[in-house]
Amino acid sequence: MTQITRRQALATTAALAAGATLLPTAQAQSPIVIKFSHVVATDTPKGKAAEFFAKRAAELTKGKVKVEVYPNSQLYKDKEEMEALQLGSVQMLAPSLSKFAPLGVKEFEAFDLPFIFDDYSDLHAVTQGPVGAKLLKKLESRGISGLAYWDNGFKVMSANRPLHAPEDYKGLKMRIQSSKVLDAQMRAVGALPQVLAFSETYQALQTGVVDGTENPPSNLYTQKMYEVQKHVSVTNHGYLGYAVVVNKKFWDGLPADIRTQLTQAMADATKVANEDALKDNQDALAKVKASGKSTVYEPSKGERFLLKKAMFPVHKQMSSRIGEETIKDIYKATNFDPTKM
Ligand code: LMR
Repeated sequence: MTQITRRQALATTAALAAGATLLPTAQAQSPIVIKFSHVVATDTPKGKAAEFFAKRAAELTKGKVKVEVYPNSQLYKDKEEMEALQLGSVQMLAPSLSKFAPLGVKEFEAFDLPFIFDDYSDLHAVTQGPVGAKLLKKLESRGISGLAYWDNGFKVMSANRPLHAPEDYKGLKMRIQSSKVLDAQMRAVGALPQVLAFSETYQALQTGVVDGTENPPSNLYTQKMYEVQKHVSVTNHGYLGYAVVVNKKFWDGLPADIRTQLTQAMADATKVANEDALKDNQDALAKVKASGKSTVYEPSKGERFLLKKAMFPVHKQMSSRIGEETIKDIYKATNFDPTKM
C-alpha cells in the first residue's frame, strides 16, 4: 500500500468506527425540542420556573426532550408569541392571564378585575380548583392546551407623581396589557390607559410616551422600570399571573410516556413557581426601595379602601363581557360577597 492509500484506509476505518458508535447514539439522542418563549427576565418567578421545567423535563425524559427557553421577548413579543404558538413555531408559552382575551377567551379577564383576590389563598382557590380547570379547557377550541397556572403576584402602581388618592391618577397615561378590564380599571380613576407590549414599556416610560404603569414588583425591578419612575405605590389592587400553554396538536401528538413525564415535570415546576413567587416579589420590592431611585409608598387602609371603592364598579361594568357565570364562580370559590362592598 502506498502512503496515501494507507492513510485513506486508516481514515475510512476511523470513520466507520466513529460511525458505528455515533450513529445509534445520535439517533437515540435526537431529542424532541420544545421551544418555550416568554417575555420576562430569567430572574423572575416565570423565568425561573421555565428554567426549572426545562431541567426537570430533561431529567425525567432522560434527555428525550430538550426544552429551549427564550426569555425577555428574545423570540417574540406578547401578541406575536400567541400567534407563533398557534402556528406551531413555538410549542410552549406562559402568557399572563390577561393575554388570552385577545384570542377570544374573554373569561380570562376575570383575573384582571381589581380587588377580586385578597391574597394568594383566594387566588389558589380558583387556579388550583375546578374554576381554573374549566377556564383552561376553554383554550382548546383555539388549538391550545392549558397545562398549569404559575403565580406571579399582586401589582403595584408607578408614576412620576405620588399615587395616594384615586384623584392622583387623573390624566396619567398608564401602560396596560391588552385587557378591556384593565382599560376600565384605569379609566375608573381618571387615567388614560395605553396598551403596549411588555418589551416596549421601559422605553415608553423613559421617553414619556406613557407616565406610569402597573406590574408586580418582580417585573418592575427586573425591567428596571423603577429607574424611570419616581413613585411606586404598593396598592396590591390586582393580580398578574400566568397560564402555561402548549400547542395542542404538538402535545396530543407526543408519545404517551413522554407526555406523562412532561406532565410530572410541569407539576414539579408549578410547585416551585408558586412557592417562590411571593418571596421573589418581596425581594424585588426591597431592592427597589434600597435603590433610592423610586419612593415606595404603602397606602394606608383608608387610602386602599378609597381606591377599591373607585375601581370596584368595574366588576359590574365588565360582567357581560367576561361572563357573569365566571365572575360568580370566582366569588364563590373565594367566599367573596360583593354586596358587602
Ligand atoms: C405584562 O405585559 O405586563 C406582563 O404580562 C409581563 C409578564 O409576562 O409578566
